[in-house]
This record gives sequence, C-alpha cells and structure tokens, in this order.
Amino acid sequence: MRSYEIAVVPGDGIGTEVMTEALRVLDRVSSEFGFGLKFRHFDWSCETYRKTGRMMPEDGIDRLRDHDSILLGAVGFPGVPDHISLWGLLIPIRREFDQYVSLRPVRLLPGLTPPLRDGASADVDFWVVRENTEGEYSQVGGRQGTGTDQEMVVQVATFTRRATDRILRYAFDFSRGLGRPNLTLATKSNGIYHSMPYWDERFAEISAEYPDVATSQEHIDILCAKFVLQPERFDVVVGSNLFGDILSDLGPGVTGTIGVAPSANINPERVHPSMFEPVHGSAPDIAGQGIANPIGQIWSAAMLLDHLGEEEAGAHVMRAIETVLGSAGAPLTPDLGGRAATGELGSAIVNAIGERG
Ligand code: NAI
Ligand code: MG
Repeated sequence: MRSYEIAVVPGDGIGTEVMTEALRVLDRVSSEFGFGLKFRHFDWSCETYRKTGRMMPEDGIDRLRDHDSILLGAVGFPGVPDHISLWGLLIPIRREFDQYVSLRPVRLLPGLTPPLRDGASADVDFWVVRENTEGEYSQVGGRQGTGTDQEMVVQVATFTRRATDRILRYAFDFSRGLGRPNLTLATKSNGIYHSMPYWDERFAEISAEYPDVATSQEHIDILCAKFVLQPERFDVVVGSNLFGDILSDLGPGVTGTIGVAPSANINPERVHPSMFEPVHGSAPDIAGQGIANPIGQIWSAAMLLDHLGEEEAGAHVMRAIETVLGSAGAPLTPDLGGRAATGELGSAIVNAIGERG
C-alpha cells in the first residue's frame, strides 16, 4: 500500500482544535482511497517556548526533514511576542526547506455570503502566489539610540533576482496549468523607488517567455480596492512576501471569512518537504471555545493530498466541504453565521467523505 509520513505541528490556540478535524478527515479519506498516512506529532508551540526558551528544539528542522509533508495549525499566542513565535518556528521552516512559493486559493464556497456584495453575482475564484522566502520579511536592519529622541529603526527589504524570477516563473507556469492564463502582478512602483520597479522589470522580461499568458499589473492600493469591487476579474495574482500576505487575507475576507482559507508553502523541486497550513492564525479571542471553523485546516489537508499526488482524494475532500456547506441545515460555525461547534462541522465533512458518488 502507498504510504506517506506526515509531520503534524498543531501549534497554538485554535491550531490544535482545527488540526483534530483535519486529521479525522485525512484518516477517513485515506482509508476510502486505499493509501496510508502515518502522522508524527510535534507539540512545538508558545507553550514549548515558555518551558524551554525555544519554539522548537535546536535540531527541529532536521527532525522534520524526512517527512513527505508537514501539516501545521497556527503559531503565536499572547505572552510570547509574535515576532519570536513566527521567527522561531514558521519562518525557519519556510526558509530552511526553501518553500519559496506560498500558494493560496481564494474561492467563494457554496453557502458563504460575501459581506460586501450580493452573493449571487459574486464570482470569486482566484489564486494568490506569494514569494515566501525574502523581501520585506527580513532580519536585515537595526535600531540605534533606543529610548532617546534620536531613536532610529532601519528595516531593509531584500529582493534577489533568483527569488524574484523563480516566483514569477512559478506564477506564469501555474497560470498556464490552470487553463486560465491571466496573471496580475501586485506592485507599488510609483511609491517604492527601487524594489518594485525591479519587480515590474523582471515581470515584463519573463512575460516574454509566456506569450500565451495575459498580464496586467496593479499598484497594491488599488489592487486591494479591486479585490473588493471586482473580484471576478482575477485568476492568478503574484506578489512579494508582504503584498502576498496582505492579499491572501483580504481575498478570503471578501468571501465572508478567513476561517476557510488554506495555504501551501511549496518547495517545487521537492528536495525538501512542503508545508500546508490555514491562512488564519491561532485566534486567541476564540481559542478554547471549540467554535473555530476547521475548513481552512481541512482544505490545507486537501492541498497536501494534491501535493502528494493523491489528487483524487484531495478533490474528494473539496467536494465533501462543498456538499456540507451547500446543504440545508449544515452545522455552520459562528464565523459562517451558525452556532455549530468545530467538531460538528468536522464530523459533517468526515461523514460526507464516506458518501462517494
Ligand atoms: P487570526 O487569524 O488568528 O485571527 C483574526 C480573526 O479571525 C480573529 O477574530 C479570529 O477569531 C478570526 N478567525 C481566525 N481563524 C478563524 C477560524 N478558523 N474560525 C473562526 N474565526 C477565525 O489573526 P491574529 O488575531 O492577527 O493573530 C493571532 C495570533 O496568530 C498571533 O499570535 C499571530 O502572530 C498568529 N498568526 C499566525 C499565523 C500562522 O501561524 N501562520 C498567521 C497569522 C497570525
Ligand atoms: Mg497572514
């Protein structure tokens, strides 16, 4: 039997709650489709940090290395500064494993009502491709004159040709593969003097290799407005680490909740494991209440299956999510306007997986 080893890092807050549901879904779908999934659990979190002074052990990356994929919940919790938790766990994994593509689908699922527009008319179905290793998220910089009126902070954004070109090429290839060759670049070359004109330039040069892909570019500010006003015009949007991060919360926000949004951190060359996680964080405001929406985590698990080559199983999970959300009386969590618990929505999806058409 085909079998895969999955590293499971539930993390903090609702990360642990939504992970439970995703693992139930994975167990069920793998037995339906006849392959094995071996889960190895790593309880690295802000709790670990409080006990040990580290988010993960010194050899944490090495312990993850031999897995076929990593499924992550969310990290970060009040009491540990966010930059410590993020840079102690999530960002090292993305960078050490050269997961340079962050791929984030934005889709209006059945039963969801977009908050801003008439639901019937909104056709929201696009992908955000985010550069995931450099750019604005950098440790380059410093602070001097702390506490004085001369205090000064410098934060340097770095963009290499290697990383810029490879994410742009990935986005062009992805647009092609999707069969909707229409790629938008998120830029800000009017205000940011060096780096964004550079992105425009690389985008223009690489687009010459893809004459079949229609291109456009938008400054990030108006692009945000267009995500809200005309979401139907987008198929694939590519952006830097920061712009991609912002757009991939805004996109799902426009569909009604970020609780359903998944993401994949991909090492396309498959030299290292890729990592799958919801877009949302640990949601301390609702953690422990059992009301978090598990769909972002479950959809991330479906993307993990696609990446493993189990596309049929991944598509089946998506159908189960859509069937449940589209059915009358679905057990919806509060973010979707219902009163159901995380486990009730999870169970409905697990049950729908059993009903193979
Ligand atoms: P957040 O995504 O955790 O929460 C934002 C809002 O969305 C909250 O009101 C929350 O209740 C709601 N929400 C999020 N996921 C939900 C779900 N599945 N179901 C229902 N409602 C949901 O973002 P926030 O508050 O900015 O960050 C909280 C912590 O999470 C911080 O420590 C932050 O650093 C961390 N974080 C971690 C991420 C990761 O692990 N990839 C990503 C974003 C934030
Ligand atoms: Mg984010």
